[in-house]
Amino acid sequence: MDLNIRPRRLRSSQGIRDLVRETNLTAADFVKPLFVVNGQNIRDEIPSMPANYHLSLDNLEAEVQRLVELGIKAVILFGLPEYKDAEGSSAWQQDGIVQQAVKGLKKKFPELLVITDLCLCQYTDHGHCGILEAGKIKNDATLERLAKVALSHAEAGADLIAPSDMMDGRVAKIRQVLDQNGFKEVGIMAYSAKYHSAFYGPFRDAAHSAPGEGDRSSYQMDAANSDEALREMELDIAEGADIIMVKPALSYLDIIKQASDNFKLPVAAYNVSGEYAMVKAAAEKGWLDEKSVALEILTSIKRAGADIIITYWADSAAGWLKE
Ligand code: PBG
Repeated sequence: MDLNIRPRRLRSSQGIRDLVRETNLTAADFVKPLFVVNGQNIRDEIPSMPANYHLSLDNLEAEVQRLVELGIKAVILFGLPEYKDAEGSSAWQQDGIVQQAVKGLKKKFPELLVITDLCLCQYTDHGHCGILEAGKIKNDATLERLAKVALSHAEAGADLIAPSDMMDGRVAKIRQVLDQNGFKEVGIMAYSAKYHSAFYGPFRDAAHSAPGEGDRSSYQMDAANSDEALREMELDIAEGADIIMVKPALSYLDIIKQASDNFKLPVAAYNVSGEYAMVKAAAEKGWLDEKSVALEILTSIKRAGADIIITYWADSAAGWLKE
């Protein structure tokens, strides 16, 4: 048999490569994380996450205007509160930092999708994502607090609420409190398969949310497990999640793939702080080309099956895609 199959034909020119490309990134795929702080005229670059900032409310609008002009359609907000206590009560203040940011943004940019991260770790003095009692994280006591936070975010005008705490039953609890209070249209993007990962290091510096004692392994998932991830996603869907998330992204592309193969609802992936910081650091040393590596990473996350990518490169990547 004269077998003469030439796969290189489909790579022989830019035109044919563009025609057969299976995965195309657009700015509409991205969600940009933003860190909001109290105070005035603050736009401090986060040392371990270059080109990302702590922003006071008066500087938030200009930053979001820039994102919108680049074609970014969604942001996820993280707040650094004025005070911390044992139960994280500053997380559900009506005029808390996140609540104020949501209100301001929805007023100024009604089309922008405003997502709020829902967790207690930035707000508790011990830095854990739940209520701590005798060295243990109390699941159901935490749910009561998360429900209050969710309601305060919905009241402020959030479009989607994204619980990242990894407590059992939180999606059902949040769905119930939202529905009972007339917020049926507010969606839930659940951090369903959130792993206990060392890739969150730079974020914890940025959000001042590292746990004082112990770690998060009693609630976040073991990196070694994938069946468990599917079980977590299945549960969140049954409890009413509109979007499921895998986090981190890069070391978990297999989990993203399984999520998109197994479940017919949108899959988000969180390209986390450590994944960003290591490329930035290598690029600063001249060891990697940031733009090429970042676009390759983002493409791989989408190719694996993510419909939505939360990434600190959202704005840079949107700019590169326009070039
Ligand atoms: C809060 C939260 C974390 C991240 C998002 N939400 C940190 C953590 O769980 O320790 C990590 C984001 C990142 O690393 O970019 N629970």
